[in-house]
Amino acid sequence: MTFQLERRVVVITGATGGLGQALVAAFLKTGAVVVALGRDQVKLAHLADVSQYRLYYAQLDFSDASAIQQTLKRIERRLGPIAVFVNNAGIGYFDTALSLTAAQQQAMIQLNEASLMTFCQQVGRLMVPRQAGMIVNVASQAGKIATPKASVYAASKAAVIAYSNALRLELASAHIHILTVNPGPIATPFLTQADPTGHYAQAVAKFALTPTQLANEIVHAVVTQQRELNRPRFMNLAALGYQLAPRLADWLAQQPVFNRK
Ligand SMILES: NC(=O)c1ccc[n+]([C@@H]2O[C@H](COP(=O)([O-])OP(=O)(O)OC[C@H]3O[C@@H](n4cnc5c(N)ncnc54)[C@H](OP(=O)(O)O)[C@@H]3O)[C@@H](O)[C@H]2O)c1
Repeated sequence: MTFQLERRVVVITGATGGLGQALVAAFLKTGAVVVALGRDQVKLAHLADVSQYRLYYAQLDFSDASAIQQTLKRIERRLGPIAVFVNNAGIGYFDTALSLTAAQQQAMIQLNEASLMTFCQQVGRLMVPRQAGMIVNVASQAGKIATPKASVYAASKAAVIAYSNALRLELASAHIHILTVNPGPIATPFLTQADPTGHYAQAVAKFALTPTQLANEIVHAVVTQQRELNRPRFMNLAALGYQLAPRLADWLAQQPVFNRK
């Protein structure tokens, strides 16, 4: 069974970022009615201006649960039922657990976990009475294999994976599908935001995913109603090994291919 996107409402958070912009373009190409959510009105307006197709957008504070509720209701009143909701916004600060500032730690936990859960809860409540919908949660391979300098980021993404697994089971009887996306490094501004020295961006440059290709794969995973999308595949194989042989995995996690921070 495939999920039809033409003229259906697709809402994307973090739409002004690297993967978010690519997702906006990929979903617009399917004929979906796309709504970009972000915190920065100027960036959102610019995105809509340069978009090849009509793009709707809304600015809100992602840490404000009532703003989230009102925004989702407003979207549905104006455009119709939300068919797909993509929790893409996320932030990373790569530093040792003992060196991260309280503000950096809180920012990752708030956006990557708490806001995502609030969006899922609010959009889930709208979808359940209709017995239809799809929620896409962008986690990370970091949520499967934690490496040095990514303790809090990895923990926040592991939380997304666990939360999505439970939500999938809870909402299955309401015919709401949950897709978890676990990318390895993607060539976006995230890399230098996480490590402003540029060291991480340089270290992963050779195998970083391109946002456009990943966005197209996410759209395909939505249409074909996949459970999980893991890219690059070799990282997911390593994550399986991590479960089977944790000591070996600890060693592997310190090898240059995984420990790039
Ligand atoms: N890039 C990678 O290597 C990588 C790897 C695995 C997973 N991921 C995940 O992929 C997703 C997309 O990341 P990306 O690579 O596209 O990163 P990005 O280019 O840095 O974009 C991040 C997006 O999140 C938004 N954002 C940041 N802080 C926010 C806040 N407090 N409230 C609301 N929005 C906020 C940004 O908005 P502004 O434009 O306003 O700043 C931007 O739209 C994230 O969940 C990330 O964790 C990324």
